[in-house]
Amino acid sequence: MNFCKKKILITGGCGFIGSNFINYLFSKDDFNGIVINIDKLTYAGNPENLKEISEKHLYSKYFFEKVDITNYKKLEQIFNKYKPDTIVHFAAESHVDRSITGPAEFIYTNIVGTFNLLECARKHWDNYAGKLFHHVSTDEVYGSLGNVGQFFENTAYDPHSPYSASKASSDHLVNSYYHSYDLPVTISNCSNNYGPFQFPEKLIPVMINNILEEIELPVYGKGLNVRDWLYVEDHCRAIWGIIKKGRLGETYNIGGENEIRNIDIVNILCEKISEIMGKDKDHFKKLITYVKDRPGHDWRYAINMDKIKYELGFKPSVTFEEGITKTIHWYLNNKNWIENVKSGEYRNWINKNYGDR
Ligand code: NAD
Ligand code: DAU
Repeated sequence: MNFCKKKILITGGCGFIGSNFINYLFSKDDFNGIVINIDKLTYAGNPENLKEISEKHLYSKYFFEKVDITNYKKLEQIFNKYKPDTIVHFAAESHVDRSITGPAEFIYTNIVGTFNLLECARKHWDNYAGKLFHHVSTDEVYGSLGNVGQFFENTAYDPHSPYSASKASSDHLVNSYYHSYDLPVTISNCSNNYGPFQFPEKLIPVMINNILEEIELPVYGKGLNVRDWLYVEDHCRAIWGIIKKGRLGETYNIGGENEIRNIDIVNILCEKISEIMGKDKDHFKKLITYVKDRPGHDWRYAINMDKIKYELGFKPSVTFEEGITKTIHWYLNNKNWIENVKSGEYRNWINKNYGDR
């Protein structure tokens, strides 16, 4: 199949992973197709993440539409207008803490939004040849591990937060469309990503930001929970691999084979940033503050990636040492981005440019 010319509808392309994926696609020699990015532009969506792509390809290869995926009619208009052959579904409410304080948006976007997209694909693709619906999901659907063990593709679902429950529900819907309607789908369940353009509400950008501001570094509980970290560009490469070579109806786990305790991440960030700034190694560590734990805080995530490794030849290419160094430098070199995001300045720009659409 010629992937080069694909017409790819990307949902949530202005968020962290979605924008990295679009930037990645346009950097690939084996992609010369069209991207239609639909995004509601919630607090987490920032078109500035795609500035270079927009400047280079706007209205020739890159199209942006401000769309809420819970609006089925609008989705139909997009399908009729662009006739995409591939959907890569990133759009979601993605932050666990926000899902605990306000679960409703997670239900609408993550469950109803996914259902709408599936329905649209089912009704508007008159045949399924060359079509694909790729659903981007999370390892959090599998629940929490103790000190040993790993998540496999057939591990029973056991979500613990409204976020992970809504993602689990969307995964089940996607699978059900494969079994009930033969809709050509694939699913990926990935571990924690880090890298450029991550909103400063997630662990790594929160800590980098707070170190730069020299304010409290809030570590939940004792900081001993473990996550499996993957550099975002590796995640993008894995997704592109699944789109090209994945088997329909299959789920692929993606991880970093890189388990680290939260407190160790925070210490690494403190030490690396002190080194860059020529300060004493322990200078920023005094900011570490142990705060109240997240309710229902999953203890440990660890991904078994044998399937994607042996079937699709994927393995992470960026070590944590390389990835975290690149990430720190990206935030240091893009202080305006983080300032815009924090001050809400980017919202003014969005309202001016996309407010009424
Ligand atoms: P993000 O919060 O940075 O971005 C989400 C994007 O979706 C934003 O641009 C937002 O505006 C858009 N969006 C939200 N609601 C929408 C709606 N109703 N209609 C249209 N657009 C909407 O999220 P992220 O971290 O980039 O995650 C992307 C996907 O990857 C999510 O599905 C998430 O569950 C999954 N995932 C994330 C991670 C991670 O570590 N960040 C790991 C595994 C899987
Ligand atoms: O595992 C994949 C998931 O990873 C994705 O599906 C989610 O979208 C993504 O947000 C992420 O979820 P986590 O809850 O693991 O990520 P977060 O960055 O919020 O937290 C990582 C760990 O750090 C977690 O154990 C909680 C802790 N933490 C987090 C923050 C924001 C802190 O100790 N302090 C903090 O300030």
